[in-house]
Amino acid sequence: MTAQTTLILGGTGKTGRRIVEQLTARKVPVRIGSRSAAPSFDWENRGTWPAALANVNAVYISYYPDLAAPGATDAIRAFTELAVRSGVRRLVLLSGRGEPEAQRCEEIVMSSGAQWTVLRCSWFNQNFSENYLLEPILAGEVALPASNVVEPFVDADDIADAAVAALTDDKHVGQLYELTGPKLLTFAEAIGEIARASGREIRYVRISMDDYVAALEQAQLPADLIALIKYLFTEVLDGRNAYVTDGVERALGRAPTEFGDYARRAAASGAWSS
Ligand SMILES: NC(=O)c1ccc[n+]([C@@H]2O[C@H](COP(=O)([O-])OP(=O)(O)OC[C@H]3O[C@@H](n4cnc5c(N)ncnc54)[C@H](OP(=O)(O)O)[C@@H]3O)[C@@H](O)[C@H]2O)c1
Repeated sequence: MTAQTTLILGGTGKTGRRIVEQLTARKVPVRIGSRSAAPSFDWENRGTWPAALANVNAVYISYYPDLAAPGATDAIRAFTELAVRSGVRRLVLLSGRGEPEAQRCEEIVMSSGAQWTVLRCSWFNQNFSENYLLEPILAGEVALPASNVVEPFVDADDIADAAVAALTDDKHVGQLYELTGPKLLTFAEAIGEIARASGREIRYVRISMDDYVAALEQAQLPADLIALIKYLFTEVLDGRNAYVTDGVERALGRAPTEFGDYARRAAASGAWSS
């Protein structure tokens, strides 16, 4: 049987869902790889991997929760080896900027023997509308331990466009694209844009890391997720990523999405309406 299916890991998540929609519209056969999919795929249970990889020729690898989390490097190495042994010819890795652990995972994929593309991304816009910042925004107060550090937030639609291009067009093989938005913003400025676009009153408050961790513990987040968030806010958001890149332009031949355009689009779709 010819292997023709494209496996989208995290295919119900922020980037994966958009990639699945685009490939389905193009009539490319896709399989979602996630715990709720059938067959189920679980990073924590390697016994689920072979069925997800059956008759697959290309994989979009979005690891959960983060390539910097303990165990991620081992999982990426084992998954990549199994994928190549199973006949996968193309791997597209969603990676993070400024995380040494993520860069180790990139090297594993690059030396796997498969055709590869790496999408090394800054913080997603959609963290404000589809992830952990949504609830505080709806509550009217976002309290974070972020200093005045600036971040070039990138749009999940731009990442999905780049992933679909890499999965379907040979010209992206062997390319590492560092994907950022077009502008550097502080978290306070990003919240300001969302307040304007949504018409909501949202206060941004800078708090200490200890107070933030206490709030996350009170919200009963799992300890390993709290450790990861702490790592991201201390180690990664230290200014090392405070520059924009031309990755979206190189991958797609167009400019990246402006944060204000994202905010207006998300507001119009009702993301902050409830
Ligand atoms: N968010 C950012 O700003 C950002 C920036 C740069 C890089 N990244 C990278 O992007 C990747 C994904 O992060 P994200 O925040 O965008 O998450 P996401 O894709 O929105 O995460 C949710 C997806 O992961 C699946 N999932 C959750 N636990 C799983 C498990 N144990 N096994 C298999 N699938 C599982 C979920 O489906 P089920 O619930 O059905 O399993 C869902 O499809 C991470 O590696 C992260 O480092 C994120």
